[in-house]
Amino acid sequence: MTNSTVKKLFEEMTIEEKIGQLLQLSADFFQGNSAVITGPMSEHHLNLKTLYQAGSVLGVSGAKRVRAIQSDYLAHSRLKIPMLFMADVVHGYQTIFPIPLALTASFDPLVMKNASEVAASEAAAGGVHVTFAPMVDLVRDPRWGRVMESSGEDPFLSSVMAQAAVRGFQGEKPLANEHIAACVKHFAAYGAPEAGREYNTVDLSEWRFREQYLPAYAKAIEAQVLLVMTSFNTLFGVPATANQYLMRDILRKELHFNGVLISDWDAIGELITHGVAGDLKQAASLALKAGVDIDMMSFAYAHYLKKATDVDSNTKKLIDESVMRILELKDVLGLFDDPYRGISEEREAIAVKTHKNLASAQHAAEQAMVLLKNKNHILPLKQQQRLAVVGPAANTGEILGSWSWQGDSSTTESYISALRRHFLNVSYAQGCGFHQINLQEVQTAMKIARNSDVIVAFMGLPQSDSGEATSMTNLCLPKEQLTLLARLSELNKPMVIVVNTGRPLVLTDVDAVSDAMLISWFPGSRGAEALANILDGTVEPSGKLPMTFPRKLGQIPIYYNAYSTGRPIQGDSSDNENKYLSKYIDESNEPLYPFGFGLTYADLIVTDLRLNQKTITPNKSIHVMAVVKNRSDRDGLAVVQCYIHQKVGQTVRPIKQLIDFIKVIIPANSTKTVEFNLTLDKLVSVHSDLARHIDSGEYIVMVGLDSEKVLKDTIFAKQNIGELYNDQIKK
Ligand code: NOJ
Repeated sequence: MTNSTVKKLFEEMTIEEKIGQLLQLSADFFQGNSAVITGPMSEHHLNLKTLYQAGSVLGVSGAKRVRAIQSDYLAHSRLKIPMLFMADVVHGYQTIFPIPLALTASFDPLVMKNASEVAASEAAAGGVHVTFAPMVDLVRDPRWGRVMESSGEDPFLSSVMAQAAVRGFQGEKPLANEHIAACVKHFAAYGAPEAGREYNTVDLSEWRFREQYLPAYAKAIEAQVLLVMTSFNTLFGVPATANQYLMRDILRKELHFNGVLISDWDAIGELITHGVAGDLKQAASLALKAGVDIDMMSFAYAHYLKKATDVDSNTKKLIDESVMRILELKDVLGLFDDPYRGISEEREAIAVKTHKNLASAQHAAEQAMVLLKNKNHILPLKQQQRLAVVGPAANTGEILGSWSWQGDSSTTESYISALRRHFLNVSYAQGCGFHQINLQEVQTAMKIARNSDVIVAFMGLPQSDSGEATSMTNLCLPKEQLTLLARLSELNKPMVIVVNTGRPLVLTDVDAVSDAMLISWFPGSRGAEALANILDGTVEPSGKLPMTFPRKLGQIPIYYNAYSTGRPIQGDSSDNENKYLSKYIDESNEPLYPFGFGLTYADLIVTDLRLNQKTITPNKSIHVMAVVKNRSDRDGLAVVQCYIHQKVGQTVRPIKQLIDFIKVIIPANSTKTVEFNLTLDKLVSVHSDLARHIDSGEYIVMVGLDSEKVLKDTIFAKQNIGELYNDQIKK
């Protein structure tokens, strides 16, 4: 449709029809193929007329059902404006990829892009038009269960992954029928709830918000994401959904976002419980003023906007703006040309769970798993070794992770089943449940372990313990699992521990009894085969931690890119000689495993850090080069990471911050030179005036295979560099 046709349609709309566009309903409003008046409709005092004016629905999918509902809807709609079908397609539709935190652990944006592309193609065939993904909330507190949906603790890594996901979901504009619109969420800073407790207050300084939390949203918007979702939390003292400064000034004016802003589920209604609105009518007015276009399930707009337009022309203007944005979204999706976007049961049947899609999911899982420990090169295992497989995660298909509502764990292969294909001598006894243990089971596990060469223990958390509303105060493995491990360790057999988890755990006790430790996350539809490929050495482990793994719970929040303090510790933090340093009296400052860490089977090191020049100018970037050596007979996969530290800033600077990374194959017994292009924009920092600046002076450049062990060199940014560049970056 042309712009003017959309405009014409808009002009024909009544105020009720316009308000209808702002209403999003859940799947419960549609039973079978059409809208229903019973159940939620009567509870929310909606009538059929309103329902047939609703602009969108969430959580309905399947080509047959979507076609039927859309056609029934259009038959009742005066202007035949198609309804939008939205859903949470987060890490796959029917083919489930590893959880987003794991996709990020691949340190390969192509893995994230491909996962999003595949998810989009399957979901689009199932009639979905918009996904509520990617979630790009920066996270530093693993007590919060939604870290599994995020890209971890680093602003740069999160930004790269946010862009990759948006590009994967959306492709180019106008969107082809295999792509769907993405919705970046949750604006803003939902990933920083106090004490890691779900939906809790977020209170950040605006400076910190801009430095670390805002970049990933900004990058997603730069990648032209079509929707943004508001967050449940408060920021700067006002709930995001009513926060005009956040939505109007930062999101719309500063970041130039002109797509559709949707509330999170009932977030408009929650303005009352937050205590900033006295009733739903006031909540509607606050949200509309903040620029929220679509009301997901609070019904505030549907009930109260009509009356407000009788007395207030500004409300009418705001409604018009929102409606235009929604119509434009429908147009960009091609819905006015084909309200079904080419869906059919036949297309759906051949689009989902194809061999190619499943192979991609397997590749992603292979890239995502992180090897944390490998004493005496116990891994890879040999085919003829006698394996005693134990643990609550060994024999279950529930390895898809949260937000996989179209995935089918009942047909997902378990780890034990894949291991039996890869190894000749495998025995299995569960030993304990995730949270239960009994003596007899332990004894059976001990018996098979005694007759084995290696114990392979599949421990961790059930998938229901991660995702929304799963905040936890204890991040150690449940005591039942620790008991089993302690008993098994009495046998003095080599022990490989695989940890299923959607978040960093405190693995100090597990580490102590393990010879090898592998984080498998929730690896998705083909996770078991990927795991077996890594354990038998067919595939090189190459994932790196996107979040720091703490040594003790009390260290949380712990992240690598902390700011310099006035009294930092030098060297070993357990050295108690100087009491008055930034440290604990009962634990070291060090994490158990740092950000960016992950072992490979190949023996890789970084040597020879070189710079083509020491001084950076607006026209001349610095080429940072380093040699990666593979000193083994296996081909290796290296994730080379480049960090920076500004020595003197106008505000305090992180001791290290990631500015670039690359994943490369280093063939056996060879070397490869990797190169990073250090451009001036990598030096941007936020000053206390809250604007972005580039400071002149000295910077340390660091290159390594994780965030701790790095080679260093110094570069300089010339005086007045800021003046030369700042105007450009401020826009
Ligand atoms: C609430 C969640 O916070 C959000 O991420 C999700 O997209 C919506 N529910 C819809 O399911």
